[in-house]
Amino acid sequence: MSTLTSITRTYTFCAAHRLHTDQLPDDVNQKIFGKCNNLNGHGHNYTVQVTVQGELNTETGLVTDVSQLDQIVQGTIVARFDHQHLNFDSAFQNLTTTGENLARVIWGLLVKRIPTGQLEKIGVIETRDNFFEYVGDPKS
Ligand code: NI
Repeated sequence: MSTLTSITRTYTFCAAHRLHTDQLPDDVNQKIFGKCNNLNGHGHNYTVQVTVQGELNTETGLVTDVSQLDQIVQGTIVARFDHQHLNFDSAFQNLTTTGENLARVIWGLLVKRIPTGQLEKIGVIETRDNFFEYVGDPKS
């Protein structure tokens, strides 16, 4: 019987953003992003789901070291984005701060830092109605 299993840990942070791209004129930004294009931005309580997949350690029955994972995600993601304005973060210099891109950015920041097992997917809950998921190449 396979021991390939996943664990998902949940983290939260609060951040501001404004949906806007300099690659499009202001009126097109306004049309595409609506009130999310508001010049002063707005905030969200983001929930991030980090899923790690791997073979179970047969002695402990664990997929990964959860306290180590928590330390890495707190240090890499939460400390970086909590109470910040995402548009001013270097990761979003050339990216709109959509939930889609946030999930991709978080994947990129974590994929090489997983203690045991490998990153399987990133989920980002932005609002009650908006959930984003990104599955990248765990070996990239
Ligand atoms: Ni928003």
